[in-house]
Amino acid sequence: MKSIDITGGNTLCGEVSIQGSKNAALPLLAASILIRGVSVIHNCPRITDIFSMIKILESIGCKVSFIGHCLEIDAKDICNTVLPEEYVKVMRSSIIFIGAMLAREKEVSIHYPGGCVIGDRPIDMHLEALQRLGVEFTEEGETIGASVRELVGSEIFLPFPSVGATQNIVLAAVLAKGTTVIKGAAKEPEVTEVCRFLQKAGARIQGIGTETLEIEGVAALQETEFTVVPDRIVAGTYLLAGAATRGAVLLENAPVWQMDSLLLMLRNLGAKLHIEGDKIFLNGEEADKSIPFMETRVYPGFPTDLQSPLMAVLARADGISIIRETIFEDRFRVVKELNRMGARIFQKENQALIYGVKRLGGMDVEAEELRGGAALVIAGLLAEGRTKIAGLSYIERGYEDIVRDLRCLGAKIEKSE
Ligand code: UD1
Repeated sequence: MKSIDITGGNTLCGEVSIQGSKNAALPLLAASILIRGVSVIHNCPRITDIFSMIKILESIGCKVSFIGHCLEIDAKDICNTVLPEEYVKVMRSSIIFIGAMLAREKEVSIHYPGGCVIGDRPIDMHLEALQRLGVEFTEEGETIGASVRELVGSEIFLPFPSVGATQNIVLAAVLAKGTTVIKGAAKEPEVTEVCRFLQKAGARIQGIGTETLEIEGVAALQETEFTVVPDRIVAGTYLLAGAATRGAVLLENAPVWQMDSLLLMLRNLGAKLHIEGDKIFLNGEEADKSIPFMETRVYPGFPTDLQSPLMAVLARADGISIIRETIFEDRFRVVKELNRMGARIFQKENQALIYGVKRLGGMDVEAEELRGGAALVIAGLLAEGRTKIAGLSYIERGYEDIVRDLRCLGAKIEKSE
């Protein structure tokens, strides 16, 4: 199993540029099949989730070229509506192909999607919303079949602002007959970005960035070019790593405008921040404060994807912190490994009580999922001695090259088999 080796205990110091956003880019790849021609996506991160999406696109007949960070997708001819189980299963976001395929081909067959092992993660809201647009579903074993004679706009209320469900409905609605109104839509930047991409291609969408989206179906979309925003979760991970090691870190190309809740959290930890344009300088010398209580929230609240990395920082804070996870019910899997490294974290249901300790010790640990893996990297940077983190492949789902980036910040870190 590929792993990461870290010799911890040194202060991070340096600068790093932030990659394109995983969660903003993934829905663009699904959106590209709505365009009977070429989509050019710049600043696309070279991560395994993107490679899996490309495999899915190729399997249905798209021609894809991915040179550097420029992804070109030619979706002129689609010849297959059965999505390959092998790639669908590794990634929950493959679910958004349902909306896009229905809009383009009126049918699709897809294995239940996989992804990180964080809770049950049902897809009921996706399916119910698409039914409102006229879609019929069948289930055979673990495969969902979906078909529609004609997508017809409707009013949809989401009981929870699901990011994926909102994206899925938007993808289905842009080419539907009539108008679709989504009430209770997710406001995450990753929803905004796919709407902007579609708008650029000629879609009619109003209310972008709000909880009510109004989509008036159009007959066709045009070829388009788009640049992926930098990744707010990767940026947050590196700032938290800087704070954890009491370091001095400069991020370039950071999506500052999407990061209010994280920047506030860093200040509460005691870090000093200086922001200029898309650059963030963090001085973590005094970032040793505990956080008496915090909870994850939908955007613009504190992102659930940074909860585990934050927990690793709080493991060595001066005092007691409480984290409540409100988005995913099983996002504390990393607690066990952090405690093996010397942390004192007690989890009950969706809350974790973290007693800050003076030191963590390096050892062999295993990442079980993407963001928990990033948290173990931060713990490894903090810990005295050597930490070996197995399960690098999980981390590579979202971080283009975490070893390269952290080396830019002076970390003693390398990949190993
Ligand atoms: C996306 C992000 C993920 C992030 C999450 C929340 C991508 C590829 N992934 O995931 O990194 O952590 O948003 O910001 O963009 N739910 C249901 N039924 C549904 C759909 C969702 O119960 O039909 C629940 C989920 O189990 C979860 C909550 O709603 O508890 C939020 O899920 P959702 O916003 O849909 O997250 P994703 O789009 O899967």
